[in-house]
Amino acid sequence: MVDEDSQAIPLCNSADLQEGGLAVSFDLIYGGQTSRAFAIRFEGGVHAYLNRCTHVAMEMDYQEGKFFDDSGQWLLCASHGAAYAPDSGECAGGPCRGGLVKIELSERDNVVCWHTSYLLKPLVF
Ligand code: FES
Repeated sequence: MVDEDSQAIPLCNSADLQEGGLAVSFDLIYGGQTSRAFAIRFEGGVHAYLNRCTHVAMEMDYQEGKFFDDSGQWLLCASHGAAYAPDSGECAGGPCRGGLVKIELSERDNVVCWHTSYLLKPLVF
């Protein structure tokens, strides 16, 4: 759900997110701290999460933007192999403790936007 005060922040073009491909990374403020996040495409839909494993609070990609496993079915943490469902961020195996923090996305006119919330704010320049 998008809350009423939510702002849509343009993130990338639709074509930048390919099925099972590299993620688009971005920064935001989560709970008052600058945090990394990433967006992916899975089964046609776009999804975004904080880049923070729930096993140990570390970034998950060992190569910039590489989150999918070889099958394109799971998001993997490079550190110890926690697996997350790409469409929900739920823990699907390995040492994760709960799901990833999900960030609302929308896609319209070939532009993908992320949506702010009371916990997720844009960086202020
Ligand atoms: S830090 Fe991600 S699996 Fe351990």
